[in-house]
Amino acid sequence: MRSLSTYSLLCLLFVASVFSLDTITRAGRYLYNSTDGSRFYIKGVAYQEEGTLGSDAANSLPEPTDFIDPLADAPSCQRDLPNLKTLGVNAVRVYSVNASLNHDACVQSLADAGIYLIIDLSQPVNGSLNRDFPAWTTNLLDLYIENINAFLNYSNVLAFNVGNEVVTSPAETVAAPFIKAAARDIKAYLRSKNSTALVGYSSIDGDQSWRGPLANFLSCDSDADSLDIFGLNNYEYCSTATYSNSGYPSLVQDFTNYNIPFYFSEFGCNVEPRLFTEVASIFGPNMTGVFSGGVAFGYFQATVPGFNLVNISSDGSTATPNSDFNNLQQQFANVTFNNTPSESSAGSTSFPSCPQPNAAFLASTTLPPTPNDELCACVANSSFSCVFTPQTTNTTAIIGELIGIACGLLANQGSNCDVISASGSSGTYGELSFCDPGTQLSWAMTAFYELNGRNPASCSFSGNATINTAGPSSSAAAEAAANSCLAAAPTGTFTPTAASSVPPVTAAATSSTSSSSSGSKNAGFSKSHQPAELIALSVVTIVAALGGFWTVF
Ligand SMILES: *[C@@H]1O[C@H](CO)[C@@H](O)[C@H](O)[C@H]1NC(C)=O
Ligand SMILES: *[C@@H]1O[C@H](CO)[C@@H](O)[C@H](O)[C@H]1NC(C)=O
Ligand SMILES: *[C@@H]1O[C@H](CO)[C@@H](O)[C@H](O)[C@H]1NC(C)=O
Ligand SMILES: *[C@@H]1O[C@H](CO)[C@@H](O)[C@H](O)[C@H]1NC(C)=O
Ligand SMILES: *[C@@H]1O[C@H](CO)[C@@H](O)[C@H](O)[C@H]1NC(C)=O
Ligand SMILES: *[C@@H]1O[C@H](CO)[C@@H](O)[C@H](O)[C@H]1NC(C)=O
Ligand SMILES: *[C@@H]1O[C@H](CO)[C@@H](O)[C@H](O)[C@H]1NC(C)=O
Ligand SMILES: *[C@@H]1O[C@H](CO)[C@@H](O)[C@H](O)[C@H]1NC(C)=O
Ligand SMILES: *[C@@H]1O[C@H](CO)[C@@H](O)[C@H](O)[C@H]1NC(C)=O
Ligand SMILES: *[C@@H]1O[C@H](CO)[C@@H](O)[C@H](O)[C@H]1NC(C)=O
Ligand SMILES: *[C@@H]1O[C@H](CO)[C@@H](O)[C@H](O)[C@H]1NC(C)=O
Repeated sequence: MRSLSTYSLLCLLFVASVFSLDTITRAGRYLYNSTDGSRFYIKGVAYQEEGTLGSDAANSLPEPTDFIDPLADAPSCQRDLPNLKTLGVNAVRVYSVNASLNHDACVQSLADAGIYLIIDLSQPVNGSLNRDFPAWTTNLLDLYIENINAFLNYSNVLAFNVGNEVVTSPAETVAAPFIKAAARDIKAYLRSKNSTALVGYSSIDGDQSWRGPLANFLSCDSDADSLDIFGLNNYEYCSTATYSNSGYPSLVQDFTNYNIPFYFSEFGCNVEPRLFTEVASIFGPNMTGVFSGGVAFGYFQATVPGFNLVNISSDGSTATPNSDFNNLQQQFANVTFNNTPSESSAGSTSFPSCPQPNAAFLASTTLPPTPNDELCACVANSSFSCVFTPQTTNTTAIIGELIGIACGLLANQGSNCDVISASGSSGTYGELSFCDPGTQLSWAMTAFYELNGRNPASCSFSGNATINTAGPSSSAAAEAAANSCLAAAPTGTFTPTAASSVPPVTAAATSSTSSSSSGSKNAGFSKSHQPAELIALSVVTIVAALGGFWTVF
């Protein structure tokens, strides 16, 4: 008996040490090792090769248009593992993952090395919250859930980020309610799966007028709709700077009373010589009252020079550490974790009331509802008489433009797109504003078609729309069907479930077109609302405005 149980115990310990890392929990405003209650600090490095950058004349550093999932590339991961161990990191941050790929080999070897994962759930192009036309929609929720599901089995996921640098200016603070809603829904989903992973957001460093309010907004009101951890991408300590003449003292001052764990989700100014002496400050007594560590940027070479810690050979077979790597390694090696306050004295996390909107911070405290796949599919399936039938696989590039066109046409006839519109400043969210962009576009096309008495010419949009012969028989039938979908749907906030694989609605007359993504980061919606005359339409009849679904909402 004794030998058997000892053997079993050894097996369990072996399995645990190979596959399982200690759960990191939040208590008060700090992170703790739940096994022994010691404070945990992120000593990390950004770990993702840069994807192809788009062309954006207005942006000195254009957004990527694709990505390479580093956790699915087992050979590169094995190549880099010795370096990550030498560097002494306990976490890597990864900016995009692909749920359809296998991550077992890399993730398990990172776990074996005691390395946690901070995983951003978004993807380039149409897989991110759109800072220009912000909305929290079914396609994003589904993408985030798919990505979470691909990592639920791993014990070393420290955090899932719901966004990176979505808000970059006071005007873009209207996106904050959508970030907060994403945190709320992702947290509910993780808890429903018994996941202890933390929910995070990474903010660009910005003006104090909105940087603090944004952080406070994303951690206010209640645990249910707040982040677990706030990350700041910060480059305010360069080269031979000292703590006192860096930006750190005022940062510490600004976040002295912050209520949740706070860390640098990126640090490491690229001014040579890159000494990384800020590490001693970040993990030293001046900052650990506010900070729970940081993630150095970054492991790989990037378009902007001077950030990389290794050179990758042209055949990809070797990764050679540079002098910056050596400096960071020495600084990390010198770090000891300050273990105060203890977990028991950290208390529970407080959630203050939310900051009210002002001239520099526009976010309404009324959050958008949980995106509802079933409702969008029900309405699309039962009430669309005119649907988007793209003639290109590059739909991301045209959907926004076509929504602008359709809404412009509706406005010209005294109608509007309120049903699909979301406003983070007024806190008003149309009934279908959380549907994916293609469904929103089909709604607008149907609205225009119905408004024009089902004149066939009003369901063309230059060949992008097709009459749905399997759709509702009349506008009254469309309205009744939509209303019954709405009546059956849960409203407001609920725990999302795994994405339902509802096939897209296509016109019965037309075969469906498969799509692949491309275009610019913010292409989910076009910025320009095109004038109506761009459309080759001959609208001859303007019927009296319909009642009910298509105009009243
Ligand atoms: C957590 O505490 C246990 C027990 O002291 C220790 O073995 C483990 O290394 C710690 N994990 C981390 C990530 O600090
Ligand atoms: C994910 O990987 C699959 C399989 O290689 C590929 O077809 C798909 O395009 C990838 N998705 C993204 C968004 O890169
Ligand atoms: C997670 O583990 C379960 C049970 O072992 C397995 O069925 C599932 O495929 C795993 N998921 C992934 C993404 O590996
Ligand atoms: C979560 O944990 C509870 C309590 O242990 C258990 O009843 C439930 O089945 C678990 N849920 C999942 C999705 O594993
Ligand atoms: C802590 O702050 C003091 C006063 O600003 C400064 O002199 C010292 O260098 C700082 N120490 C570290 C490790 O940053
Ligand atoms: C890395 O590449 C840069 C630019 O090509 C070069 O200047 C530098 O010497 C290389 N460093 C190492 C350690 O190979
Ligand atoms: C590491 O810490 C020791 C003792 O505080 C100090 O003497 C040494 O200079 C530090 N090394 C680096 C690279 O900062
Ligand atoms: C659409 O409605 C038809 C008839 O009610 C039903 O058979 C079909 O499954 C529905 N499709 C979707 C995607 O909900
Ligand atoms: C579809 O809409 C786009 C964007 O307005 C336009 O460029 C294109 O010509 C339209 N027609 C077809 C068949 O793609
Ligand atoms: C992005 O657009 C592509 C092509 O239209 C589509 O297949 C994909 O599902 C979209 N992704 C998201 C998250 O909306
Ligand atoms: C998709 O369309 C956008 C905008 O027109 C363009 O910049 C991009 O190159 C296109 N992508 C592909 C793969 O054609």
